[in-house]
Amino acid sequence: MTKPTIAGNRTGRKLGQRVKNKKMKSSSRQWLQRHINDPYVQRAQLEGYRARAAFKLLEIDEKHQILKGARRIIDLGAAPGSWSQIASKVTGSTDDDVRVAAIDFLEMTQLPGVTILQLDFLDPEAPAKLIEAVGGTPDVVLSDMASPTTGHHRTDHLRTMHLCEVAAYFAIEVLGEGGHFLAKTFQGGTEKELLTLLKQHFKQVIHVKPASSRAESVEMFLLAKHFKGRKLQTEATGA
Ligand SMILES: C[S@@+](CC[C@H](N)C(=O)[O-])C[C@H]1O[C@@H](n2cnc3c(N)ncnc32)[C@H](O)[C@@H]1O
Repeated sequence: MTKPTIAGNRTGRKLGQRVKNKKMKSSSRQWLQRHINDPYVQRAQLEGYRARAAFKLLEIDEKHQILKGARRIIDLGAAPGSWSQIASKVTGSTDDDVRVAAIDFLEMTQLPGVTILQLDFLDPEAPAKLIEAVGGTPDVVLSDMASPTTGHHRTDHLRTMHLCEVAAYFAIEVLGEGGHFLAKTFQGGTEKELLTLLKQHFKQVIHVKPASSRAESVEMFLLAKHFKGRKLQTEATGA
């Protein structure tokens, strides 16, 4: 996979543009200004990715090699779909042999080789539906899920952390031995118990912050590599 470098502006659109609409709320104007001047947004358009988030996954993979050789991938919180685009490509997924399952409660435009479930991941039926949709044991579980913002920082933070935790339990339930789990979290937000649990089940557990994740954002990614397998659980419970 090629290194995601951001070399100047190749979309033909100038960086450093200002939004002058005075009727807009100042926070919305700032957001729009930052968005149109963001080189990753421009590069995503140029390279056909549905979101700038693509570069976070590409960067993490460049450094930590989590997608190489993956045969089946589950993408949690997938809309608009840039991670699923990458997942479909690396697994060689096609509509005749689907190897990627994606879930989001938002509507997502169809993607070749990806089965999309428009469903809340916290719905009790979601895990079984995802496994059925991906057609076998996944090697990688990705979660870029972020709870919709309420405006109350602490509430948003706790809800996203909860999603990360449920995704981690799901990964431990479904991953094949040697598989990897990557999930969005927040700086200093990962609970100690969750880290302990992941360390029991994976050979390596680290936090990563790709350059394409905005520096001012507290967003981080939790990466758990090389799943040890469910034999471990059976031994621990004596089942
Ligand atoms: C940052 S976006 C994902 C971007 C995506 N990785 C991409 O590359 O296009 C986070 C997504 O998580 C979804 N999400 C949040 N909570 C969810 C839940 N409980 N179930 C399903 N999707 C959820 C949101 O609807 C949103 O689309």
